[in-house]
Amino acid sequence: MSAARNGAAAGPPHVVVTTPVPPATIERLREHADVTDVAGRPRAEWDAALATATGVLVSSAIPIDAAFLDAAPNLKIVATWSVGYDNVDLDALRARGIVLTNTSGSLVETVADLTYALVIFAMRNLAVGVNWVRSGRWMHDNMPFGHDLEGATLGIVGFGQIGLAVAKRAQCSGMRVIYSNRTPRADDAVTGASYRPFDALLAEADCVVLLVPLMPQTRGLFGDEQFAQMRPTATLVNVARGQVVDTAALLRALERKTIAGAALDVTDPEPLPPDHPLVARDDVIILPHVGSATYETRARMAMLAAENIVAFLTGAPLPTPVALPVA
Ligand code: DGY
Repeated sequence: MSAARNGAAAGPPHVVVTTPVPPATIERLREHADVTDVAGRPRAEWDAALATATGVLVSSAIPIDAAFLDAAPNLKIVATWSVGYDNVDLDALRARGIVLTNTSGSLVETVADLTYALVIFAMRNLAVGVNWVRSGRWMHDNMPFGHDLEGATLGIVGFGQIGLAVAKRAQCSGMRVIYSNRTPRADDAVTGASYRPFDALLAEADCVVLLVPLMPQTRGLFGDEQFAQMRPTATLVNVARGQVVDTAALLRALERKTIAGAALDVTDPEPLPPDHPLVARDDVIILPHVGSATYETRARMAMLAAENIVAFLTGAPLPTPVALPVA
């Protein structure tokens, strides 16, 4: 074990797990560290464990901010059990010399499945159908129809690994796929997807899917102006982060029928209060941020987070490090 990395003068390093993970993950960590599992315990009880922690395994629901880091003065590695790390104060980590890892690459197909399910739900108007059955109505009561996927255009904003996996699924249904990225990809001939500038994508797509990470450039990317550019029959699918969409602007766009509907796996705030007007709408489906929530994928993600910590403690290359911004 690398003493330089684990920072311990004597004895095994201490790793604190703050989120519920499968037992195999804890067992793997225990091969190299003393592990304290505080998942499910009140936040106020974590500090005693954090005080001696070399590493922490966290989820994206836990703010890794100055208060958290102050409680963990010996911390050397934060391994988040997520791909997104917008919950982490990157500058604070860099200033303290703490390493960050995520679970990049571990959830691509699973999130693509969920995304595509939401595309189908949104385009076929299926949330209405679910609500109608619950309220005792049936198709012959004139349930509004949805739209064909075949021949429709799917616009993907943020066309990385998950976007590609969504595109494959959509192409199987006969959809045309367009995408917007900071720059066009070089492999359009292979993926069968075509680049569009952001504004052109908004005007052309029948369903717009958001897959961008939350960054200063993407926070509030969708507001009144962007909804106004979408087709009135178009739907919005957000599986990225809630803060990419201005929630009030989305509600206005739906109320004014600027767009036809939305399917959201993420919201701002998260969760939305149960009495929020978006929650009761027939043209909106909201899921509780379950994009990667399958037993298999979550177990894989947890083990990858653990492997990052083990690699750090043993001086091996980190499987999925996150580059921190330079000062
Ligand atoms: C991720 O991995 O970023 C998921 O959204 C869970 O937070």
